[in-house]
Amino acid sequence: MLIYEALKKDHEKVKSLLNRLLLLNEKSEHSEDLIQQIRDELIPHARAEEAIFYNSLRSIDSAKDLVMHGYGEHMEAEALLKRLQMSDAFNADWKETAIKLKNALEHHIREEEDRIFSVAKEILTEEEAEKLGDAFEQMKPDIKEEGFLGTTLDLIGNLMPPRFTKAFRKDIPTVGANR
Ligand SMILES: [Fe+2]
Ligand SMILES: [Fe+2]
Repeated sequence: MLIYEALKKDHEKVKSLLNRLLLLNEKSEHSEDLIQQIRDELIPHARAEEAIFYNSLRSIDSAKDLVMHGYGEHMEAEALLKRLQMSDAFNADWKETAIKLKNALEHHIREEEDRIFSVAKEILTEEEAEKLGDAFEQMKPDIKEEGFLGTTLDLIGNLMPPRFTKAFRKDIPTVGANR
């Protein structure tokens, strides 16, 4: 599957989970369960997306700024997700936080699908986009921990289209630090 399709499929899933969450008015077992499902979709998606897609593109000048901006938005969304998990547990302003998370993610997804995808389509061959899509799908189920990146940089290098691997390995000490 092309990387664009694989990413888009996940984006739709997260958006629909957030919409379902926002239909609820009260904290309940159901809201807790939905928040957990959002977490289980979002974190592996973001880690594998950074590992496979962003790390390939960031070595190319025309994509670098957009990709770095994307990393920042991941951090922002994950901070909101943590706040949502906590506020749901304490039954405090969870809905307000859920709305903020939904807005932040919709903004991020729009930018990713419009701006990052169009730059990526200029950079990646069809074959590379296919290889990245397969690598993304292959990697995602293995990602359970947020600290994933720190331990498997070598694996990531191996899964990338070869022309990106060299620039990635050169950068390894800074990639994914503290994530
Ligand atoms: Fe994404
Ligand atoms: Fe993203």
